[in-house]
Amino acid sequence: MAEDMASLEENFRQQNRSCFILGASGETGKALLQELMERSLFSRITLIGRRRLTFEDKAPHAGPVEVVQEVVDFEKLDDYAAAFRGHDVGYCCLGTTRYKAGSSSGFVRVDHDYVLKSAELAKAGGCSQFHLETSALADKNSVFLYFRVKGQVEAGVGALGFGRYSIYRPALLLVDRQESRPAEWLARKFFGVFSVIGPAFMSVPIQAVAKAMVTNTLHQPRNKTEILENKAIYSLGKGGGQ
Ligand SMILES: NC(=O)c1ccc[n+]([C@@H]2O[C@H](COP(=O)([O-])OP(=O)(O)OC[C@H]3O[C@@H](n4cnc5c(N)ncnc54)[C@H](OP(=O)(O)O)[C@@H]3O)[C@@H](O)[C@H]2O)c1
Repeated sequence: MAEDMASLEENFRQQNRSCFILGASGETGKALLQELMERSLFSRITLIGRRRLTFEDKAPHAGPVEVVQEVVDFEKLDDYAAAFRGHDVGYCCLGTTRYKAGSSSGFVRVDHDYVLKSAELAKAGGCSQFHLETSALADKNSVFLYFRVKGQVEAGVGALGFGRYSIYRPALLLVDRQESRPAEWLARKFFGVFSVIGPAFMSVPIQAVAKAMVTNTLHQPRNKTEILENKAIYSLGKGGGQ
């Protein structure tokens, strides 16, 4: 099994591919970048974000992987089409909360509009596969705004027709977040009670999400579009199969 993974990784490396990450400054994005750097699967990783990252304690430039940063204005993404050009694979871990965005429309702007426009530009720029982190319970018909927007963005990106489209729907992300998010903290306490039912019940460690996204990239999917629910993410992220 370990040998299989090693040869999958080596084959992938030989293809000299490049990728971009949206949301590399966020919790999942940081873990994803670290996982990609450690496994050196891509020859170039482009971080597309609204600000330049400094990586105070860890330099992502170490090793054979070239890391490029593109700072864009998400309100004028058409002006930054070049940043999305020439990548083989796109990873998206972008997102905000209604509280942080200040309004429902601000949340929709980021979690739907920015994501969809980025995916459109990436597709137009030659990107053949898109890996999108949404959320457990994503449903475009949900009565809850958060899950509805996640479902709508899944559908919107799906309509773009990427050669491969992988959706990751984690439940509550287990992470020591610097920023204070009382609702998330409360949810962690609440779902912690249910962890006796099973470790993948309604939560997943952030490193497992990152590892699952990377490991899954190495595998040929059965269908052009695939959805990994929390249990599959947990299993893949812990080193198992789907
Ligand atoms: N929290 C959970 O338990 C949970 C559960 C399931 C799914 N999810 C979803 O998983 C995804 C990743 O979550 P996370 O907790 O890893 O994210 P996070 O730590 O909140 O990071 C979000 C990323 O999006 C960027 N971003 C936010 N607002 C932006 C804006 N207005 N313009 C440009 N960029 C913006 C941030 O950039 P800056 O650093 O510049 O702000 C950051 O890179 C999100 O879509 C989230 O909804 C979360």
